[in-house]
Amino acid sequence: MTTNALRYMTGFGNEFASEAVPGALPQGQNSPQTVAHGLYAEQLSGTAFTAPRGQNRRSWLYRIRPAAMHGSFSPFAQAPGFHNDFGHGPVTPDQLRWDPLPLPAAPADFVEGLYTVAGNGSPAAQQGVGIHLYAADRDMAGRFFYDADGELLLVPQQGRLRIATELGVLEVEPQQVAVVPRGVRFRVELPDGASRGYVLENFGAHLRLPELGPIGANGLANPRDFETPVAAYEDMEGDFELVAKFQGHLWRAGIGHSPLDVVAWHGSHAPYRYDLRRFNTIGSISFDHPDPSIFTVLTAPSDTPGTANVDFAIFPPRWLVAQHTFRPPWFHRNVASEFMGLVHGAYDAKAEGFLPGGCSLHNCMSGHGPDAATFEKASAADLSRPDVIADTMAFMFETRAVLRPTAQALDAAHRQRGYQQCWAGLRRTSRPPGR
Ligand SMILES: [Fe+2]
Repeated sequence: MTTNALRYMTGFGNEFASEAVPGALPQGQNSPQTVAHGLYAEQLSGTAFTAPRGQNRRSWLYRIRPAAMHGSFSPFAQAPGFHNDFGHGPVTPDQLRWDPLPLPAAPADFVEGLYTVAGNGSPAAQQGVGIHLYAADRDMAGRFFYDADGELLLVPQQGRLRIATELGVLEVEPQQVAVVPRGVRFRVELPDGASRGYVLENFGAHLRLPELGPIGANGLANPRDFETPVAAYEDMEGDFELVAKFQGHLWRAGIGHSPLDVVAWHGSHAPYRYDLRRFNTIGSISFDHPDPSIFTVLTAPSDTPGTANVDFAIFPPRWLVAQHTFRPPWFHRNVASEFMGLVHGAYDAKAEGFLPGGCSLHNCMSGHGPDAATFEKASAADLSRPDVIADTMAFMFETRAVLRPTAQALDAAHRQRGYQQCWAGLRRTSRPPGR
């Protein structure tokens, strides 16, 4: 039985309950002596047992077989390089940019098509992120995956993803995102065939909505637009494979049944999806720019207040009305490190070279900003009229720690080795008076 009916998440950390078979969900307690239909009760804890209520995440799953039932794990080979080896040696402060990851030359499913670009921290330290791309062209068939190292934020750029999880089915298309919590087993199918996108693997505290401060009770991403799946289970036996990511490496084990056999569940550790087009974008209606934190969709805090392990921000369609203002983002340097991708359309700070499916990395204190063509155009623009950026959806993963590009990303044929030339055409200022 499958269904992808979804319910609005009315807040983060809330309890949800769903049953695919009426009466399967125990009432009034979590683990009765026997569960209806002979199901097994199993708790999935996503935070420490004693995490504060507002952050505590756990779900109770009622399933055909417990998750313990599978064969022994052995290393799983995966060609493109999906790992957390971010190196320990020197890391270049160069500004970096890449063309889109080529679609696979040989058939590849989602797990086979994952490719690591950069990252920091580690699963062992429970802080930092892995930043990955995927390029795949076939469904995961008889293969299931879970990530014990972090939650996964999936950002499709080309092609829809049908993500069948233990807790139900999420379908996402480009300009939507999905979050699969740490440990949840899932299978990805590709209804549109060849597909590509971005993956944020968050080793730290789970993603949540940012505080709104003086913005007030509404705005940015509204809680009611986050959707969780309803229970949907598979009762399948066969010669299947369970792939685990555990401490930066991939493992495989044989499994004789589909692990997506949860008939009912309740709790707070659940996948969800969000449509980026529902983001209530806020910006300047007088002059100058707010910092891009005004575009934060989700944030994973660190132990330092106001300093995130990672922020997920977007640059969606919006009106530009500020007067006396250079309207694209200005030149800047940032103590945080910025990885950007483009899901759709064009990005307003670059005239060319930043393509849908491509990405850029501007690390701590590396100067960046509009290219020469954008600077010239925006400096002469008529500001008496509003302007609209209608056809765009860019995003940023911003981290407090330096993002270390992987060796494979630095060596990749699709890296733009002449990226810095985009600023070479900027003229020096006119000579100051009296000089
Ligand atoms: Fe930036």
